[in-house]
Amino acid sequence: MNRLLTHLRHVDLAVPDFEKQLDFYSGVWGLTETASDNGISFLAAEGSPEQYVVRLRRAEEKRLDLVSYGAATPADVDTLAEQLLSQGVQLISRPGGVDTPGGGYGFRFFDCDGRTIEVSADVAARRHRRIETQESIPVRLSHVVLNSPDLDRTRLWYEQHLGFRLSDTLSSPHMGEVMHFLRISNQHHSMALAKGPHTSLHHVSFELRGLDEYMYGTGRVLRAGVRKIWGPGRHLAGNNTFSYFLDPHGNTVEYTTELESLDEDTWHPHVYDFSQPEVTDQWGTANPMSEIVAKESFNDVDRGVFVAPPV
Ligand SMILES: [Fe+2]
Repeated sequence: MNRLLTHLRHVDLAVPDFEKQLDFYSGVWGLTETASDNGISFLAAEGSPEQYVVRLRRAEEKRLDLVSYGAATPADVDTLAEQLLSQGVQLISRPGGVDTPGGGYGFRFFDCDGRTIEVSADVAARRHRRIETQESIPVRLSHVVLNSPDLDRTRLWYEQHLGFRLSDTLSSPHMGEVMHFLRISNQHHSMALAKGPHTSLHHVSFELRGLDEYMYGTGRVLRAGVRKIWGPGRHLAGNNTFSYFLDPHGNTVEYTTELESLDEDTWHPHVYDFSQPEVTDQWGTANPMSEIVAKESFNDVDRGVFVAPPV
């Protein structure tokens, strides 16, 4: 199908301990709170034109509120909504004005696992700035990874309905396929699906300026006593670096840099055997990936499945 999505905009999280979560993302993680309203906070990455890359909402139960993608024009938003309707996808809202910082024109719907997805166009760009040498804060959002109990069903859904394309797959003789990397641009992945026991957020990844800034950032977060799960290292699929940490509510967050740009005309997806250590960790600097490490990112059963967030 035609590709109507342009990029990942933001990931929205609901949490019981709002203050602690806000303190983490606006503090050691290096985002900037740009707006707040009665238990909702919008956090921007200083190098990104997006109004915000993370939205936090105070709620009794932790959940993933939504994942938001950009479209090029309001006409594309309308086209996508019509296509989804005709394909039997459950819309949460029809295209219309977006009531968050930067405004715009968008709508929401459920993916096949019940996550809320938002697509919008015409959102005003935020005044952003160049991140300086050795400045170890996120430039922008890189990608989001979602746990899914039925990897192939979910992958097919994203390909058929939203125009994602497969970049690479991780597999092992022992576990079969465990991750699909999916793209909507020449970026190796804006989204990936991870095989998990339930529908939940696997991790949210933030792009640092370069290798030096990524290492400074990794060290800064480590020194602050934040629990590191895995890294630092460089993956084979996507060729990006990784340092994974847990936020105060047990969501995994990643610092990354140098994610591969593909030539989409000639790209052919690989299936990499992740039981080979060089596949997950090319440099050999990360702690070994084990089932215990992998389970850290299964996250809790998401309470937001087929429940639209209130805002
Ligand atoms: Fe990642």
